[in-house]
Amino acid sequence: MDDLLKEIQTLRQAIALASPNDAQELEAFRIRYLGSKGQLKQLFSKLGMLDAAQKKAIGRELNDLKQFAENQYAAHRQRIQQSQVSTSTASEIAGVDITLPGEPLPLGSHHPLSIVRREMVRIFESIGFAVAEGPEIEDDWHNFTSLNMPPDHPARDMQDTFYLSRDPVWVLRTHTSSVQARVLESQPLPVRVICPGRVYRNETISARAHCFFHQVEGLYVSQQVSFADLKQTLYYFVEEMFGHHTRVRFRPSYFPFTEPSAEMDISCTVCGGKGCSLCKYTGWVEILGCGMVHPDLLRNFQIDPEVYTGYAFGMGIERICQLKYRVNDLRLYSQNDLRFLRQFIAAI
Ligand code: DAH
Repeated sequence: MDDLLKEIQTLRQAIALASPNDAQELEAFRIRYLGSKGQLKQLFSKLGMLDAAQKKAIGRELNDLKQFAENQYAAHRQRIQQSQVSTSTASEIAGVDITLPGEPLPLGSHHPLSIVRREMVRIFESIGFAVAEGPEIEDDWHNFTSLNMPPDHPARDMQDTFYLSRDPVWVLRTHTSSVQARVLESQPLPVRVICPGRVYRNETISARAHCFFHQVEGLYVSQQVSFADLKQTLYYFVEEMFGHHTRVRFRPSYFPFTEPSAEMDISCTVCGGKGCSLCKYTGWVEILGCGMVHPDLLRNFQIDPEVYTGYAFGMGIERICQLKYRVNDLRLYSQNDLRFLRQFIAAI
């Protein structure tokens, strides 16, 4: 019986080590070990010479070995079949004619607003701005009061607000200037951030107005920041975004959070300044509001305006997108019309 056990062990080793590499070798494996005259069969035939107890013990070993050999056989067969698949041509496998033109796979694209937002972020990051974000549901302090717009301030009328509740006040933020407040209350100076995000206003939806749109806010607060720094930063932005031939002008304006304040126009990207319907025949289009951060705003965040100064600006992403891609209807951005969206595949 010991001899038989040894034989079983030797055979198990041989089976474990065997590695047939193609269909022919696999068949040889099967015949040698599992075939009707194979080595396993031969060992089984020796069971007859044993007494009942030995028969039981050796029988178990042999059945176990047979199972092992069958498993090995199945594994080798699978491996060999797979290697055949990878070495045969596609036409052999699927029965297709690979010389026929392929079926086009639909290719997705980024939304035009995402393309422009990413480009804006890239430009400002290249000159040291970090990206900051804030919530779209805001309280009165961050959206209005801390930005120099106390409850009865007339400037609140400039923005038609969606109120979620009146007491306490919760609003859908009307501008990304609210993120200025969040940054100033939480980050150590100096800060140099841009804040891209969605904003909401209670406007009737039309080609020129929408109840939500997107802005990028900029804020730089440090020592000795001047209006010249603001202008230079915005010149750089325009040149990167629209090209060096684009002209820029600043007009004095009013915003509660900046003093002095300005609006910035660029020469019309459609007519190059000659006058067209987009620029209402002025040759200029306004793209942003900006100014030096109001001292009162700095004080709201315990920042001494005698030591620190800063500039801020805010612009609409839709407007930049309109000027870059001539999108003439704000509603297109949120209608998910594939005929519109597909035009931007090449723009990525
Ligand atoms: N928050 C203004 C708006 O939504 C845009 C703006 C103007 C932002 C001037 C600024 C700024 O930071 O300095 O119309």
